Amino acid sequence: MKNILIIGHSSGIGKALTEVLAPKYQIYGTFYKNKPDQIHSNVNSFYLNVEDSELNFDALPDTLDGFVYCPGAIQLKPFSRIKPEDFIKDYELQVIGAIRCLQACLPRLKKSSSASVVLFSTVAVKMGFNFHSIVSSSKGAIEGLTKALAAELAPNIRVNCVAPSITETPLAHSLLNTPEKIEANAQRHPLKKIGSPIDAANLTSFLLGEESQWITGQIMALDGGVSTVK
Ligand SMILES: NC(=O)c1ccc[n+]([C@@H]2O[C@H](COP(=O)([O-])OP(=O)(O)OC[C@H]3O[C@@H](n4cnc5c(N)ncnc54)[C@H](OP(=O)(O)O)[C@@H]3O)[C@@H](O)[C@H]2O)c1
Repeated sequence: MKNILIIGHSSGIGKALTEVLAPKYQIYGTFYKNKPDQIHSNVNSFYLNVEDSELNFDALPDTLDGFVYCPGAIQLKPFSRIKPEDFIKDYELQVIGAIRCLQACLPRLKKSSSASVVLFSTVAVKMGFNFHSIVSSSKGAIEGLTKALAAELAPNIRVNCVAPSITETPLAHSLLNTPEKIEANAQRHPLKKIGSPIDAANLTSFLLGEESQWITGQIMALDGGVSTVK
C-alpha cells in the first residue's frame, strides 16, 4: 500500500482528505493544536509544529508516495496597516514551512517509483481582492515554487497546487460564521456555492493518484468558476 504524508490532517481540508484516502493508502498525518480521533486503522497521527527549529519525521516510513502541505492562514488587512514582520510571519508558516517539510521528506519521496506533491494556494493569487496582500504574497510564492519544483523533480516526482476559493473550514470561520455571510459568499461564485473541504479533498486525491500521472506543474483552480467565469 502506498504511503501518503499529510502535514496538517487534523482540520479542514486535511481532515477531509484523510477520510477520503484512508481506505486506499497508508496515511501519515500531522496535527498541531488539535489531536485528531483515530478514524481508520490505516491512519497514523503525530505532532508537528512546522515553525519549530527542528522537525521530527522519525514516525515516517522509508518511502513516501505522496506529500500534502495544509497549514495556511487568511489574514485580511488594509495594506497600509500591515507591518513588514506580518508578511514575514505569514511567509514562515505558508512557504518556509512547506519548503522545510518538503526538503526533510525529499529522500523518502525519491525512493518512490512515482511520487506526487500537492501544495495549496488561493484564488486570490489569480484574482486581486481588497485586503488580501499578505495571503496573496505567500501563496504567489507557493505557485512559483510548484512550477520550479515540478521542473526540478521530474520525472519521478510530480508537483501540483490547488487554488481554492473560500471553503468551509475552521480557517475561514470568521468569514462564514453567519448564514448571511455564507449566502453572500455563495452568490459571488458562478456556481452559487462556497467550497466544501470534500471538494478540495477529491481534487487532491486525484492529484495524488495514478489517474493524474501526466499532470505536473499545474495550479488547479477550485473556485466555483469565480476566477474565469463572468
Ligand atoms: N479554507 C479556505 O477558505 C481556503 C481558501 C483558500 C486556500 N486555502 C488553503 O488551503 C489549505 C488548507 O486550509 P484549511 O482551510 O483546511 O485550514 P485549517 O482548517 O486551518 O487546517 C490547517 C491544518 O494545518 C495545521 N497547522 C496549522 N498551523 C500549523 C503549524 N504551525 N504546524 C503544523 N501544522 C499546523 C492545523 O493543525 P491543528 O488544527 O492541529 O492546529 C490543521 O491541521 C491552506 O493552505 C489554506 O491557506 C483555504
